[in-house]
Amino acid sequence: MKPSVRSDVAPFYVMEVMRAAEQREQAGHEVLHLEVGQPSTGAPAGAVAAVAAAMQADNLGYTGAAGMPRLRERIAHWYQERHDVDVSAERVVVTTGASGSCVLTFLAAFDAGRRVGVLEPGYPCYRNDLQALGAEVVTIPVGHDTDFRPTIAQLDAALPLDGLVIASPSNPTGTVLPPAELQTVVEWAACHAVTLIVDEIYHNVTYDVECTSALQHGENLIVFNSFSKYFSMTGWRLGWVVAPPVMAATIERLSQSLTIAPPTVSQVAGLAAFDCLDELNANVERYRRNRTIMLDGLARAGLTRNAPADGAFYVWADVSSLVPLVGSSSQDLARVWLDELGVAATPGIDFDRRRGHDFIRFSYASSTEAVAESMKRIEAWVGRMGS
Ligand SMILES: Cc1ncc(COP(=O)(O)O)c(C=O)c1O
Repeated sequence: MKPSVRSDVAPFYVMEVMRAAEQREQAGHEVLHLEVGQPSTGAPAGAVAAVAAAMQADNLGYTGAAGMPRLRERIAHWYQERHDVDVSAERVVVTTGASGSCVLTFLAAFDAGRRVGVLEPGYPCYRNDLQALGAEVVTIPVGHDTDFRPTIAQLDAALPLDGLVIASPSNPTGTVLPPAELQTVVEWAACHAVTLIVDEIYHNVTYDVECTSALQHGENLIVFNSFSKYFSMTGWRLGWVVAPPVMAATIERLSQSLTIAPPTVSQVAGLAAFDCLDELNANVERYRRNRTIMLDGLARAGLTRNAPADGAFYVWADVSSLVPLVGSSSQDLARVWLDELGVAATPGIDFDRRRGHDFIRFSYASSTEAVAESMKRIEAWVGRMGS
């Protein structure tokens, strides 16, 4: 049997790091995990308790394809609370994580052959999902010169476009688009009839910068979010989309066929998670401490050419000065650090196919101890290699 041509998307090279880290752990060696893009904490206690109660009292059967009405209403209200924006529950569709949101929104918005812009470095699934759906992916490179934010000149250069997918805060760079710049991108998209999709999965994981929702800047666009990051519920596979009414109805219709409904047990947990904000904010404070430890540690190791790290829990570090010490790519560096230091980090190639060989993405979502110890080892390694 032959796989379809459209399914020939790039693999995740980070999986190789994770596999090697796992093998190392199985062989009895310690690994400090800076490669994983997920909180080291589980779901908040209130969410777990709500699920335990629901399992006794409820049959947890299917919900509607767009999710439980109470959850859709709660999410709509979240925009009122956080961003002072009126969103009706009909515009909210609950999904199987932001990953589910990607597939559904891209399917709903773009026919095969449509040109859709994505930033590079950027989250690789946008590119892979769009490619699998037959869209033409238009790469828009961003770099240090603009703090990894797209300029209007760069967006203009990518025209004609049918769609544009951006994330703020971004994975892997942590870049947050300042409100005025997000406003400009929203206006630019409206002016050029470009369907704008904004991934807001790292909302509420930001450090002293203003982070608006694209919904504050316009209504005729799509945003999505998830319970995976701020809500610390990666494995529950729950997210949502907010879209204009016709698109929301379209996404709901697609969802009926693709998934029937998002997992009910996770929706129960998600609803309760909105009442656990103290616990969730404490996680963010831990990320903040970890971030400082990481940025200081990397600086001591001579790694200061980093993306801004204003949000999410990543540092996108330019390691081009270290790569020649061990080989020709950050994949070589990641391998050496795992073998010699027991520190797992993600080579940049997943996020930027052209320039990723010079970058490593460090996650500081793990424990403070693991981040501090990793930085100590990397600093000492750089000292040894330089002497
Ligand atoms: C930018 C971005 N979008 C979407 C996702 C998918 O998240 P999930 O499907 O767990 O909600 C991730 C996961 O790391 C991400 O970093």
